[in-house]
This record gives sequence, structure tokens and C-alpha cells, in this order.
Amino acid sequence: MAEIVLECRNLWKIYGKVVAVRDVSLGIKEGEIKVLFGPSGSGKSTLARCLAMLTKPTKGDVFLRGECLTRPGVDLNKARARIGFVFQHIWLFNHLTALGNVMLGLRRVLKMSKEEAEKRARRALREVRMEEWADHYPAQLSGGQQQRVGIARALAMDPEIIILDEPTSSLDPELTGEVIDILRELAKKGTTMLIISHEMLFNREVADEMIFFDEGRIVERGPPDHFFTMPKTDRARRFMERLIKQTARD
Ligand SMILES: Nc1ncnc2c1ncn2[C@@H]1O[C@H](COP(=O)(O)OP(=O)(O)O)[C@@H](O)[C@H]1O
Ligand SMILES: [Mg+2]
Repeated sequence: MAEIVLECRNLWKIYGKVVAVRDVSLGIKEGEIKVLFGPSGSGKSTLARCLAMLTKPTKGDVFLRGECLTRPGVDLNKARARIGFVFQHIWLFNHLTALGNVMLGLRRVLKMSKEEAEKRARRALREVRMEEWADHYPAQLSGGQQQRVGIARALAMDPEIIILDEPTSSLDPELTGEVIDILRELAKKGTTMLIISHEMLFNREVADEMIFFDEGRIVERGPPDHFFTMPKTDRARRFMERLIKQTARD
């Protein structure tokens, strides 16, 4: 059986009076693609950020290949470098070219030489079909191209898993396709991924398991076909109906 790459057990995240994530246990195995979906404000981003240890969980544990990251004394920078993260709201440094943005983590975090970092960064840009744009600045790129650089930045670090938080939701519909195509290619290569996405055709195609999240909890989970044919809970059924109607309109 494939090894679990990243896992949380009984994870809670509480902000003041808001319980964003309540008692969630979830693991992503080597080569597996899990899709997380659910209403806005249900805690998906918070869960993703806790799994990547970008946010400290209030309670519960996170394990990266069996190593507990929530114990005191863990080198979190080292652990974070092994978990790629692609953000919903694309952020690149405006004063750096696409290449410069992708090289940054390689130089600063992985302490690579300039030559080595550049080679690795160009390879990552090639993987997202952005090698010709290496010397362009973010302002000269479309939103879809910027997000592809964001994906290259994660890939360049050669992470063990990539978490993508609604990578296309801030893009115009016509730019969504080019990012989805890249994700589809990553899926074909067997990249281990946790993807928050409401692109249902894509989800259906690539997900090994889909997880419906609401009010900080896993409400229902199963293979994509389960959700497309017979969701058990009313909440998941209603949500699916809304999404499918929306997809038909687009
Ligand atoms: N940094 C934060 N401080 C306070 N509340 C937060 C913070 N981040 C998220 N929340 C709250 O946690 C809940 C879940 O948010 P979020 O994880 O962003 O949901 P989703 O990604 O599903 O839209 C929301 O009520 C949100 O307002
Ligand atoms: Mg979110």
C-alpha cells in the first residue's frame, strides 16, 4: 500500500469565537489526488494552511511521512520546503522576473548556487510552459501566466506534495483552462496533490477522492462518481446541484 505523505489527526483551528476547522482527520497517500470542496467560509483554506504548517493548528497533529510537525522543536522551515503551496490569490514579487520568483526559494531556503537554482527554475518553468516568459515581470503576464509561475515556484522545490487552494478561482474563465491543463499534466505524472477546487469536470477527471467540507468538518467523502450520482447528505446534494447548474451556464 502507498505510504501516507501528509496527514492530520483530530485537527482543530479556532480563531477567537470562530471554529474554522473542527476535529478533522485526513491523509493523502503517495501519488494520490484529493479534492476538497464546499461552501465559502467552510474552513477549506484554513485546513490547507494548517496541513502545510503555514498556520499553527489550535489542537491536533500534522504528520509529514510519519514525522509529527506539531511537536515542539521541529524545524518548520525545513518541513514547509517539502510541501508545495499554490495560493488562491496569486502573489509574486513584482520587482522580480518570473525566473527570479521561481529561483527565490531555491536560493534562500534550499541554499542552491545561482547556477543550480537557475537550471532548476527553468526546468520548472518549462513544466508549466512558461520558459519563454522567464525574463518577464509579473505585470507583463496575464493572471493565468502568473498562476503558472506560482505553480512553477512550488514545483521547483521538488516538494513531496503540492497543496493548491482554489488555483483558478481568481482568474477570468478564459484563463482558467490554461491552468487546469497544467494541473491535468501534473496529475498524469502522478504528482501527489491536495486541491481545493470547484472545477467539477476537472475534479471528476483527476480526483481519487473528493471531500465535501462544510462548517469546518468533513461532511461526506468518496470517489467523484459518488458525488455525481448519489451524494448521501442533503447538504452535499444541494451543493452539487448548484455547482452543476453553474458549470452548465459557463
Ligand atoms: N486569519 C484569520 N483570522 C480570523 N478568522 C479567520 C482567519 N482565517 C479564516 N478565518 C475564518 O475562518 C472561517 C473559515 O475560513 P476559510 O478557511 O478561509 O474558509 P474557506 O476557504 O472554506 O472559504 C471563516 O469564518 C473565516 O472568516
Ligand atoms: Mg478559501
